[in-house]
Amino acid sequence: MSIQFNEQTRTFHLFNDSISYIMTVLPNHHMGQLYFGRRIHHRDDFSYLLEMSPRPMTSCLFEGDRSFSLEHTKQEYGVYGTTDYRRPAVEVLQKNGSRLSDFCYQSHTVTAGKPRLEGLPATYTEEDHEAETLTLRLEDPVTGVVLKLLYTIFEKGGILARSARLENQGREAVHLTTAMSLCLDLPDCDYEWLQFSGAWARERHLKVRRLEQGIQAVESLRGNSSHQHNPFIVLKRPCADEFQGEVMGFSLVYSGNFLAQAEVDTHDTTRVLLGISPMGFDWKLEPGESFQTPEAVTVYSDKGLNGMSQTFHRLYRKRLARGCWRDRPRPILINNWEATYFDFTEDRLVEIAAKAKESGVELFVLDDGWFGKRSSDHAGLGDWVANPRRLAGGITGLARRIEDMGMKFGLWFEPEMVNKDSDLYRAHPDWILETPGRSASHGRNQYVLDFSRKEVVDCIYGMMAKILEEAKVSYIKWDMNRSITECYSRALPADRQGEVFHRYILGVYDLYERLTSRFPQVLFESCASGGGRFDPGILYYAPQGWASDDSDAVERLKIQYGTSYCYPLSSIGSHVSVAPNHQVFRSTPLKTRANVACFGTFGYELDLNRLSPKEQDMVREQIAFMKEYRELLQFGTFYRLASPFEGNITCWMVVSEDQTQAVVGWYRVLSGVNMPYTRVRLQGLNPDFCYRNQETGALHYGDELMNLGLITSDGQSGQMDGAGEGYGDFMSRLYVLKRDTSR
Ligand code: DGJ
Repeated sequence: MSIQFNEQTRTFHLFNDSISYIMTVLPNHHMGQLYFGRRIHHRDDFSYLLEMSPRPMTSCLFEGDRSFSLEHTKQEYGVYGTTDYRRPAVEVLQKNGSRLSDFCYQSHTVTAGKPRLEGLPATYTEEDHEAETLTLRLEDPVTGVVLKLLYTIFEKGGILARSARLENQGREAVHLTTAMSLCLDLPDCDYEWLQFSGAWARERHLKVRRLEQGIQAVESLRGNSSHQHNPFIVLKRPCADEFQGEVMGFSLVYSGNFLAQAEVDTHDTTRVLLGISPMGFDWKLEPGESFQTPEAVTVYSDKGLNGMSQTFHRLYRKRLARGCWRDRPRPILINNWEATYFDFTEDRLVEIAAKAKESGVELFVLDDGWFGKRSSDHAGLGDWVANPRRLAGGITGLARRIEDMGMKFGLWFEPEMVNKDSDLYRAHPDWILETPGRSASHGRNQYVLDFSRKEVVDCIYGMMAKILEEAKVSYIKWDMNRSITECYSRALPADRQGEVFHRYILGVYDLYERLTSRFPQVLFESCASGGGRFDPGILYYAPQGWASDDSDAVERLKIQYGTSYCYPLSSIGSHVSVAPNHQVFRSTPLKTRANVACFGTFGYELDLNRLSPKEQDMVREQIAFMKEYRELLQFGTFYRLASPFEGNITCWMVVSEDQTQAVVGWYRVLSGVNMPYTRVRLQGLNPDFCYRNQETGALHYGDELMNLGLITSDGQSGQMDGAGEGYGDFMSRLYVLKRDTSR
């Protein structure tokens, strides 16, 4: 890894084993983009990459020169209004009403490692040799605003992390109305655009389209990253696929309003923008104040989509997630929500936990309904004190009973919300986000606390910390069940209302930071009605997230497959629930529900007492299996093999780092009759190792399994006298492959 600067040509070359990133200072002193892609040899002079030619009907910057126009120049952090007509990376509104700025290169520094981003989640290094950071200092001479562009290149893999910092070193206040984390101009538009979109209970479905002239974008204006879109997009060459070809992933380490956009101009160049959505954003910078954007992580892969995902997985697992749970296999849990909803007593909870313990479950999680006057979703949020009518000994008493059984105890919170029917709201009706003189919309009968205010965050922290100090709580599920509306803070003046959405998220991060540092042994699982805030920002604090409220095995194939493009399996909260399923009312085999859920953190969302003895035996086996293989499943190298978005069969696999073990998950949604023979070509095995298929007992070399494929035909579909048990719709199999050294 290296960051080279050529003083004569004022050109930067950042490179490591996989990528090169080249920039130059342009004739107007702005920063220009020259190349991003596969690693190339370092040369002293890359200035030939800066192409300029006179074009008719083009506005040019310098008198007498008809070739230098920003419109036709690839830039690092584009500005609007002075010969460039594309959407900008930054816009600064000044006292005189002007929005022009002119950020000119002044100097730069190169430092070992990676600096923290104050108040914000970000990737990190543990040792200085893991990365190098280039900070470019630019200044707008008229306003005195300084722009610092940060580029961190990691030692290995195609990873470049970027962010921007704006400091007002001038004499007058300015307003930032756009401040993106990343702006990347690419020389052509021969790409497909991938986004991960959906809605509640069908999150992160893969959508693909060809990049076209004009703007294509995904965005969230909901205050959370959202069920609807994820702050993650991919550009891939049309000929690239899961296993080969050029792919670039763009991921924003942020949990609030975002914009991910590609603008293709009519000369077929592409500008990618990623950052906080400019819609409604207006951040006032007084002299001396500064603003730090969230971090954008770019991954380049020339090994297709799987190559890109594996790079994200390694980075987010090891250098984004933190704390003692980062590298630890996750406990197998049981959650009472779908078993009881709000209708439970302490004894009923203990009964559920006891049966789960008997089956090998390690953690019991008490979900919504334990606090204040909460017996439905109309009351109680904000009163984080146990309801003594339900839990006579409070959380402390219940936690002790669970611990005494030999299980860990986990607890649900929804810290950011309040019901009007709560002591907290009665004491502080002005603590919710609402616009004076206008009605406030509710979502699930609840209102959003103004987390942009420190006293609000302090108060919630106080209540949560008290419980965690008194009771033995090992896990927290942090829920968030509505988006923000009528966003307005009573604590901020009129000219700072455009800051509220971002300040709110900073408040959420602050609460997470305080809780995770005060209670480092607690495992946090994020949740926002399932997958409404499944993003890298939250992953920094909570190493796992409940991926979706939809626990149906068939629906989960798409949700988990889509999620895996960016996020590691160790972060994907996935449970077995009852059949018929509570969200889609489909009945799938218990085996298939577990075979899907084990490619994630694994747990149960039901009352095992209600299962038949035969099913209870199956659950015991599933848990034993998960305990044996969870380290491999959660921390191995994951490959997508067959997509639920393309056909009836889904297949994925995980391989251990030393390639001695692998687990393949194979799923067929609908059964058929007299069907074709099927096989799947595996990936990531050692071609020379001999593997025993634990299901069939057969031995195969890795090269056989990867080139001829694993035979998955079931041999039953042509039979006239009825197929064996387990055949039919929603069928699945797990194949465990272990290296056999006797061969
Ligand atoms: C939404 C979550 O996703 C569910 O798992 C459950 O915790 C409910 N909220 C409780 O209100």
